[in-house]
This record gives sequence, C-alpha cells and structure tokens, in this order.
Amino acid sequence: MYGESPLSTDPSLYAALVEALPDPILVVTGSERSDLTGRRFIFANTAARELLRIIADAGMLLSAVRDPAVLSVVDKALFDGADADGFYETTASQSRSLRVRARPLGLGADGTRLALLTFHDETEVRRVEKTRVDFLANASHELRTPLASLSGFIETLRGHAKDDPAAREKFLGIMQAQADRMARLIADLTSLSRIELDEHVPPRGVVDLVLLVGEVVEAAAPLGAQRGVKLDWRPCAACPVAVRGERDQIVQVVQNLLDNAIKYSPDGAAVRIELRSGLSELAAAASAEGVPRLSLVAPDPSSESYASLRVTDLGPGIARQNLPRLSERFYRVDGQKSGARSGTGLGLAIVKHIMNRHRGGLVVSSAEGEGSTFTAYFPMAGAPEAVVKAS
Ligand SMILES: Nc1ncnc2c1ncn2[C@@H]1O[C@H](COP(=O)(O)OP(=O)(O)O)[C@@H](O)[C@H]1O
Ligand SMILES: [Mg+2]
Repeated sequence: MYGESPLSTDPSLYAALVEALPDPILVVTGSERSDLTGRRFIFANTAARELLRIIADAGMLLSAVRDPAVLSVVDKALFDGADADGFYETTASQSRSLRVRARPLGLGADGTRLALLTFHDETEVRRVEKTRVDFLANASHELRTPLASLSGFIETLRGHAKDDPAAREKFLGIMQAQADRMARLIADLTSLSRIELDEHVPPRGVVDLVLLVGEVVEAAAPLGAQRGVKLDWRPCAACPVAVRGERDQIVQVVQNLLDNAIKYSPDGAAVRIELRSGLSELAAAASAEGVPRLSLVAPDPSSESYASLRVTDLGPGIARQNLPRLSERFYRVDGQKSGARSGTGLGLAIVKHIMNRHRGGLVVSSAEGEGSTFTAYFPMAGAPEAVVKAS
C-alpha cells in the first residue's frame, strides 16, 4: 500500500520471519522410504531447536526426534505426497501435547523429496476439553443418583408398599428430598453456566454491602434457628459500604458462605459475620495468625481499597491438604458427601467465579477441629462519577 514491501526486496527478512515464528518448524528431506538414516532436517527454526533440544539447524532426523508418530507423519508427506498429522507428547517435566503436521514440498534442487514439519502446542485446548468431559461426567453422575433413587421408590410404591400407608408416607418423604436435590443441582448448574458466560464482563452497578448482607443474614436466620445456630452479624462502623458489583451475584456469594457455615456448624453454635471496609488488599486477605490459609481467588489488578466480608463458624474445619480443592466443581470433603449435610458441591465454585468477575478475592482459613473462616473481599466503589445505576 505504501510502496514496495521490504519483504520483496530483502529475502533475508523471510528467513528472519520463519526464525521468529512461535511455532516449531522444520524442513525435512529423504530420498528412499527404506533408508531411515537418510531422513534429514535441513532447517529448524529457533522454536523447533528449543522443542527438540537440538543445537544444529540441520542434521539426521533421527537425532532430533525418534517419536514414531512424528516419523510416520513425515513419511506420509515425503513418500505418499500427502498432508498428514498426529500428536507428539513431550516427556519433559511439564508434559505438553503438540499437534504435528507434515506437508509435502515437492522435490529439492538435487532431486530429494522435501516436506514441511510443523508443531502446534494444544496442551491448553486438551486441558479445557478434558475439564469439559469430566464436568459432564460428574454432572450426569450427580443427577443419576437421585434419579435412580426416585425410580427405585416408584417401583416399591407400586409393589409391596402399595397397601402400606406408613411405608408410603415415608417413601414419599424420601422421594421429595431426592426431587429437591435434583432441583438444587439443576439450579446450581444453570447458575454456574450463566456466571461463566459473562465472567469477563465487568459487573455494572454499585451495591451497599451493609444492606445486602443484612438482608441475606435475616433470610438465613430461620435456617440457623432450626438447629439452634445463632447468626452474629456485625456490620462495620462506617456505613454504608459501597462496592462495585452485581447485586444478585453478591447475594449468591453471601448466601453460599452463610449456608456452608450454618450447615457445618455444630447445633447451637454461633456463626459470626463481619463486614469491614477501607482495607488494603493485604489487610482484607489477612486471617488469624497460625491458622493455615489459602487464597482461592486473588484480585487482579489490585484495587486501592477493599471491603471484606468474613464468615466464621465453629464447625469441623477443613484439613490443610483439602483447602486447594474447595472451589473445584462437585468437590466435597470426604465424609461429608452424604447425610443431612450433603450439598451439590457447586457452591464454592459459584462463589469463585463471581469473585473473579468482581475482581475481588476469596480466602479460606481453617484447620481440622478449629472451625473455618471464609473471607470474600470486594473492590470498593470509587469516585461518585464512576457510580453506575444498577441495571
Ligand atoms: N464452613 C465449612 N466448614 C467445613 N467444610 C466446609 C465449609 N464450607 C465448605 N466446606 C467443604 O467444602 C465443600 C464444598 O463446598 P460447596 O462448594 O459449598 O459445596 P456443598 O456445600 O454443596 O457441599 C463442602 O462439601 C465441604 O466439604
Ligand atoms: Mg455449599
């Protein structure tokens, strides 16, 4: 567009360009299918030399790579004249999966066959794919369990329990609980997928945390009262506390943390809910000294001032080795998978995604037998002109 491209007048730029490509590239040659040692590479860019840990940019192909998948791809391009692709797994400490492709390049000046060999790192794609497959498998499993139980009880009600009113009443109660469980799972799954969908869209709106937490605490009080668990709500002195965020999602965060604290509290114990504002990131994420703590979500980039919501219970606590897995979908600490306390295992995954979206942080601090404290902290809404009306 603006005169002749430097590429057309200076061929050395092409070499620099290929050299600089992030994907590993080699040019290979061979003259006869049966002569394995005759396969050579006559060019390897920097990325290829790094991948295959070779120093020279030309040499015997077998000295650079011995992987049968790669060699067979090369042969197809060289001797069948066809495009071919396969997978190459590196065995280094951090194993990576690369798609390897070969394309025939025709004949060289001396009559040998040429092919282009490229590698493309697909480790991340495969990881995401595996997560997706695992997620589907887990979700189906979680739904299948209550469904199987429902089918079983329907059969029983049709069969020997048909004329037994007491048994019928009991089974209907269990069926109701299983149906409720399925409904909870579906609600959590829907909620999770909706949150993930707009995780990268910054939340609009400003929320007063004092009002919001107060409302959620009030709504959760009857749940606590069933087991004599008191909710000790301590709004901060400096009210209101405005944070940037989406009201419904912040409600979900508070609900989930509160729900867990109540669920895992011993009967009659207190759950403390504290709100503090105007904190640095360090102060917001801090927890009692000596208790193992782990940051499940770290804010990025960090803001000047945070408001933190801290929920503390006197429950069984969580062993140190289980802390990192808490926000995994469907993860539940062993021994808490069934019974009165069984949940969906999606609550903290939902909290994590919401905190990510809000550029806030989430810290758990807990030890076995010592209760647990979960702290969610939000960037505070800044100057008034930045305040957007909640939509
Ligand atoms: N306050 C808590 N005290 C003890 N364990 C907890 C607490 N909160 C969460 N956990 C553990 O973390 C797991 C995951 O929590 P969550 O994602 O909310 O799932 P759910 O509550 O549906 O089981 C729980 O199953 C439980 O094992
Ligand atoms: Mg929960």
